[in-house]
Amino acid sequence: MSNSTNNKFHFVCRNCKHEIKDFKEWFSYGQKCPKCGKNWVDTVYSQDINKYEELIFDNGAEVKSLWHYFDFLPLNDKKNIITNGEGVIDIDRWSFLEKFAKEQYNIDCTVYAYRNDDNYGTGTFKDAAATLVASVLKENNIKEYAVASTGNVANAFARYLAEAGISLSVFIPNDALKANEAEVSSYGQRVYRVDGDYAKAKKIAAEFSKKYNVLLSSGNTDPMRVEAKKVMLFEWLRMLGEVPNVYIQALSGGTGPIAINKAFDDVKDLGIIKQSPRYILVQPSRCAPMTEAWQKAKANNFPEGWEQDYPIYDNPKSKVPTLATGNPATYPIISKIVKDSGGEIIECDEEKLIDISRLVAYETTVRMGPAAAVAVGGFFDSLKNGDIKNGDRIMINIGEGVRRAPDFMKEMIYTTKNIKSVDDCENYDRASYRDQLWKPFK
Ligand SMILES: Cc1ncc(COP(=O)(O)O)c(C=O)c1O
Ligand SMILES: [Zn+2]
Repeated sequence: MSNSTNNKFHFVCRNCKHEIKDFKEWFSYGQKCPKCGKNWVDTVYSQDINKYEELIFDNGAEVKSLWHYFDFLPLNDKKNIITNGEGVIDIDRWSFLEKFAKEQYNIDCTVYAYRNDDNYGTGTFKDAAATLVASVLKENNIKEYAVASTGNVANAFARYLAEAGISLSVFIPNDALKANEAEVSSYGQRVYRVDGDYAKAKKIAAEFSKKYNVLLSSGNTDPMRVEAKKVMLFEWLRMLGEVPNVYIQALSGGTGPIAINKAFDDVKDLGIIKQSPRYILVQPSRCAPMTEAWQKAKANNFPEGWEQDYPIYDNPKSKVPTLATGNPATYPIISKIVKDSGGEIIECDEEKLIDISRLVAYETTVRMGPAAAVAVGGFFDSLKNGDIKNGDRIMINIGEGVRRAPDFMKEMIYTTKNIKSVDDCENYDRASYRDQLWKPFK
């Protein structure tokens, strides 16, 4: 189907309401509104929104991927779908954290874990975006694409675009994990390891896009990424029958909260969700520019223009390169979403990430990568700060599994005893480790 026949969806500029017909136009305008130059558009569908109710509450449906919501995703023809069954993942109940909240803080809450580590593509939160990006690019006959990424996006795009027969050039900062580089390269996609931080990688990627006329992934408000991730909200509703009132996520650029708000906007006239969740967004302590800006604004009672006041860190040295966005250009958008939701932007001490991952693996067998540990750390800190209230139903986004970070995985070792003979062995009770693992949190 050619895009000239597209009447399924169009884009509306968030700033000036100018309408853009389809991806062909959007790409030809450099992924910006041709009238005002802003790059944040809403995707609007011609489908009756009542269809959402059918999709969300049809209990008999076999739901295999986020393409269950095809009617509300910006693709015209199902034949262009590139999927590995992503976006339909388990939601676990983490009662060990509920018990902790009750015992330590006398807070009754429900804690869910959204298991993005179980995504079939590359085992991260970014597979959802990748399935949509690869499918849209295929539909629009794009043969070459470029992206600047701290890691997980690069990896997910590398795989899905390879499946679509699309060549990808990836620009990663010099601190990106070797494992990420290896995975991107293994799919036969080009890696450029940039001598500099993520901001520099973005800059060179933009220059590359211009010089070689290659379409460049446009960042956190990219309609492809936002529309893919909005599915989270519908999935919570479909699987739990409700939307949690608190959402905790590790924060880099903030596509997650932007997308959840968009999902809420899509269905708000149906009355099936009362409000969007309260966002608790968590940055790693050594690269937390949004947290710094937010805490300052809060301490000063949010003075006029506070959303524009944020620091920029050059070459941030974080243990979590995936989240090392030193120039938080989306802060004005994210901070407003957080404020409107009654939420918080906090930080998690990077020194605790191993403790957090060990504890979670011990209690649940879920093995998280460092970016996911940042989110769980945010749960512990928000309990301590009084940001979790009685009756809260909390969704923690477990954004990646441990396979993302082999060096981090190695630090998970703690039960090894080196031996010379059987005489060095003893009977074993795994419960003997429990107190030690919980100690850092009590
Ligand atoms: C595992 C994981 N969690 C969270 C994030 C942050 O996503 P965003 O801030 O774009 O919503 C990332 C981004 O790279 C990630 O890889
Ligand atoms: Zn505009």
